[in-house]
Amino acid sequence: MASILVTCYSRTGKTKKLAASIGKGAKEVLGVDVDVLPFNRVTASDLVRYDGIILGSPVYFGGIAAELKEFIDETTFVRGKLVGKVGAAFTTAGDRTGGKETAILSIVQAMLIHGMIVVGDPIADESSNEEHNGGHYGLAADGQLTEHDLLQAEYFGRYVASVVARMC
Ligand SMILES: Cc1cc2nc3c(=O)[nH]c(=O)nc-3n(C[C@H](O)[C@H](O)[C@H](O)COP(=O)(O)O)c2cc1C
Repeated sequence: MASILVTCYSRTGKTKKLAASIGKGAKEVLGVDVDVLPFNRVTASDLVRYDGIILGSPVYFGGIAAELKEFIDETTFVRGKLVGKVGAAFTTAGDRTGGKETAILSIVQAMLIHGMIVVGDPIADESSNEEHNGGHYGLAADGQLTEHDLLQAEYFGRYVASVVARMC
């Protein structure tokens, strides 16, 4: 059984709410075990243990939160052990043009340095019944989270989980 970890730093709960919806979508995929873990409980050995890692952060000054950067820096020693795992990133921001893509790309950059296979957030296939805009590099939302944002997060979770299921 393939496994996925969903986690994020979140100070006021928005990114955490998106993580829960991503986890909900991912759990719909057969053959995949999904854990949505609180950020402060995630250890370096968790990173090694899962086949897919979906990592999120709020946008802080156009980048990721220092807490997530610190975690990434402090777990550099797992380098080599994440090669070939699936990675995906998500973020929430206050403003529409607040730096969501740069924050996502910071997470993706760390994943690529670790040799992970990064999955983006593609627009739904026309043949599917899903309606999904696609965030290109990862999932993003800004302002107050809407039902639509949460549905997009479920779609993203399903999509990443389907890739993990196919690869494992
Ligand atoms: C220190 C700090 C810096 C922030 N910088 C930005 C920013 O550059 N762009 C933006 O759109 N929002 C910014 N925000 C707003 C947060 O990204 C936004 O409220 C986010 O959804 C909070 O996520 P959380 O509820 O998971 O903590 C900032 C918030 C804080 C506390």
